[in-house]
Amino acid sequence: MTDKLTIRRPDDWHLHFRDGDMMRDVVPYTARQFARAIVMPNLTPPITDTASAAAYRERIISAVPEGVQFTPLMTCYLTDNTDADDLARGAAQGVFTAAKLYPAGATTNSDNGVTDVSKLDPVLARMEAEGIVLCVHGEVTDDEIDVFDREAVFIERHLRRITRDFPGLKLVFEHITTSDAVEFVLAAGENVGATITPQHLHINRNAMLVGGIQPHNYCLPVAKREVHRLALRKAATSGNPKFFLGTDSAPHARHAKEAACGCAGIFNAPYALESYLSVFDEEGALDRFEGFASLHGPAFYGLPVNEDAITVERAEVTVPETLQAAGREIVPFHAGQTLGWRIAG
Ligand code: DOR
Ligand code: ZN
Repeated sequence: MTDKLTIRRPDDWHLHFRDGDMMRDVVPYTARQFARAIVMPNLTPPITDTASAAAYRERIISAVPEGVQFTPLMTCYLTDNTDADDLARGAAQGVFTAAKLYPAGATTNSDNGVTDVSKLDPVLARMEAEGIVLCVHGEVTDDEIDVFDREAVFIERHLRRITRDFPGLKLVFEHITTSDAVEFVLAAGENVGATITPQHLHINRNAMLVGGIQPHNYCLPVAKREVHRLALRKAATSGNPKFFLGTDSAPHARHAKEAACGCAGIFNAPYALESYLSVFDEEGALDRFEGFASLHGPAFYGLPVNEDAITVERAEVTVPETLQAAGREIVPFHAGQTLGWRIAG
């Protein structure tokens, strides 16, 4: 039995840091494990241009603990009015690593997102030409579409067309939650990949709805049926380079989750690697963990792999019931549970 694993330092290819006090308090959790992270731009107001992304990047860097190496990779929030010249300039200057498509109203702080995906075509054409990665929140927002079907419908309505019309566009289907998404990504070209979160590997929708409503297991896209969870576990542990680590860690204060209209988002950053490792261990796929966590993401993004290594070992760690962030309680994913792996040293 493998009890210890040394792998290249991993990266998180999808993450929410927020800003201000919350950001200062959550950055260390990520920087403890990951060398880089793709930072989501859904602040209020969102990060829609190079100047605000560069300033946000500086604020994140100033929250990294002394002696820790961590590089935030910034994204541009696409809107109906995105300035493709500014996006291209920001990418050329190394400020933007990717741009994020939120359909307006799909999730937390997405109100300024794209109201009509087809209107984005000129920006997508420019991104394809410049080699800028498109990160997609793949859910339709129409009232008449059931929330559990929104990802599958997005594939049919938008992703098939985008990948056909922009065959060279690098596209990350973010935080996939369905077997439909797995199949779509597998059938698409090499330029199409996907991130998978820890929660979608661990929980199905029962974890949110059985035994009373469980707001800390609520995120978007919502966890689906068990068959979908199993398809995601198979994809993540398959060794296929199209699938890579992206936590979608999304901190919200406890009171904002435990509310009549609770926020979507699961705060998994504190024990993200431990959480993924337990899945790979259960699936007998520890030998494929380094690919998922440390190799496939850089290869997709065309970035070098990290030179330094981390060692993880089999040992019990109990996740606290609550943590403090921005002077408030926050409930982490796996609160009160014991995981079987920890980062050594
Ligand atoms: O659950 C989610 N929370 N999904 C998202 O897409 C956004 C995120 C957030 O920002 O809280
Ligand atoms: Zn997200």
